[in-house]
Amino acid sequence: MSLLNSRTRASLLGFCSLLLLSSALHAAEHPAQASVASAHPSATVAGLETLADGGNAFDAAVAIAAALAVVEPYGSGLGGGGFFLLRKAGSPPTYHFIDARERAPLAAHARMYERNGKVDPQLSLNGPLAAGIPGLPAALADITSRYGRKTLANNLVPAIRLATDGVSIDRIYIDRASWRLDAMRDDRETARIFLDQGNLPEEYSLMRQPQLANTLEKLARYGRIGFYEGETAQKLVEGVRAAGGVWSLEDLASYRTVERQALRYPLSDGRELISAPPPSAGGVALAQSLGMLQQLPWQKAEPVQRAHYVVEVLRRAYRDRGLLGDPDRVANPVNQLLAPDYLKRLAAGIDPQRATPSSSLPPAPAWREGDHTTHFVVMDADGNAVAATLSVNLPFGAAFTVPGTGVLLNDEMDDFATDVSGANAYQLAGSQANAVAAGKRPLSSMSPSFIESPTELAAFGTPGGSRIPSMVLLAMLDYLDGKPVQRWVSSPRYHHQFLPDVIEHEPRAFTAAEMADLQRRGYTLKDVGRAYGNQQVLLWNKKSGEVQSASDPRGIGLATELAAPLR
Ligand code: GLY
Repeated sequence: MSLLNSRTRASLLGFCSLLLLSSALHAAEHPAQASVASAHPSATVAGLETLADGGNAFDAAVAIAAALAVVEPYGSGLGGGGFFLLRKAGSPPTYHFIDARERAPLAAHARMYERNGKVDPQLSLNGPLAAGIPGLPAALADITSRYGRKTLANNLVPAIRLATDGVSIDRIYIDRASWRLDAMRDDRETARIFLDQGNLPEEYSLMRQPQLANTLEKLARYGRIGFYEGETAQKLVEGVRAAGGVWSLEDLASYRTVERQALRYPLSDGRELISAPPPSAGGVALAQSLGMLQQLPWQKAEPVQRAHYVVEVLRRAYRDRGLLGDPDRVANPVNQLLAPDYLKRLAAGIDPQRATPSSSLPPAPAWREGDHTTHFVVMDADGNAVAATLSVNLPFGAAFTVPGTGVLLNDEMDDFATDVSGANAYQLAGSQANAVAAGKRPLSSMSPSFIESPTELAAFGTPGGSRIPSMVLLAMLDYLDGKPVQRWVSSPRYHHQFLPDVIEHEPRAFTAAEMADLQRRGYTLKDVGRAYGNQQVLLWNKKSGEVQSASDPRGIGLATELAAPLR
């Protein structure tokens, strides 16, 4: 397997020599190692390279995110967006949430996906009308300038090299491309770059992206305006409009990331959840789920009883998702949803033996009128850390690449309730709070999260659409149970999202006896027929200084530590 993997191996060998430097050099209040876990080995190496070159965790996060944009075009990219949760080391540490979510174009409106009086779901999934204004390029520039030690040009070096030299096609790429093959074939530029004569590329073949390298170079040289203004912006708008989209130069020039207060929720034993606030629904769902579980004896329960509790708290948390939307446009009743009395009441309504049919639950309270994606974690030797989840929505996004830019656009507009009385690609029910509107951000499930206490920091996250919060919750429960990091990423997964009223699960999630028990309790089970998710996690033991990270065995990612005398 070519050039790239030998380079990856060589880089890793170089870093391993640093591992020989004793971790005892460090005071225990600092991690003994820097650490990176990402969904692709080349992105992990980009992070390690940046740390070894004097960058901090924030620089490394930019390098990793940019590398993922090249090597995982099915998961994230310059044409997409995401959320970065930052932990800035200090006493106490501070948390910063960078919302780089895509924004609806200014010409967007609630009925833009209707044709002949009916919503056409294809229009928000494939082609340029499906694409929100990208946020990732602005995030790369903003995180570097506000939090990094290096320049954006430094941090983009690995990504530009990967785009220029080429990326070796792997089994995950082929799997995701086979899912989206028809849509990819429909767009000439997407097919030219990401397919081989209209067919799936061979495993281990090399994919070069010179136009993307050129777009990255402009971003490196000019910063944010190198993407959102000037030649790149012109090409993006012309390409989108020529193919039936509605972007304008103003859409791009006015795009800004938003720094929001991270969602913080106290847990037992001095721990605290730090997670994504709206426009993510994920942090609220996690806090609600953990808050309800604190009322229930889940930790002592045998596996089926535990799954019962987990499913019932997820059912209730996902029901309340319909109340959330872009916080710049609608009021989000986060305080009410996380109020102890409310969560106690929800938990008290859980029958310990029987499933609660979703149809029997009252609607969410009216406090207001009115696999694909990617994740990584990185920490430096100062204890700065980033958990980031980035997306283009479905694999290969809108399967539309803007000619002359190499930029594959997202189809994040489908995360809006394009039909407020229907459901989206993840079967999530629509709601008025998440209706399409000009310049609005669609609701997301992405949930980069920390759990921190005086003695530990744990970081979590995964791709996986509507299943993200349930996957992160299961990993958090493994952590709270004291299981090793490898278990957090490898435990079998199951999911419930209120509607449809079924437990979706991986093929190996339950034994036959456990399934029979769950059915007796009134559940409908649906084997999704494949493993899902790609969780990347880390744990810092503040007493010993030890850092452990893990990458989901379902993917091809790499988690590794770098003994770092680099502060
Ligand atoms: N596009 C998936 C999400 O943001 O939830």
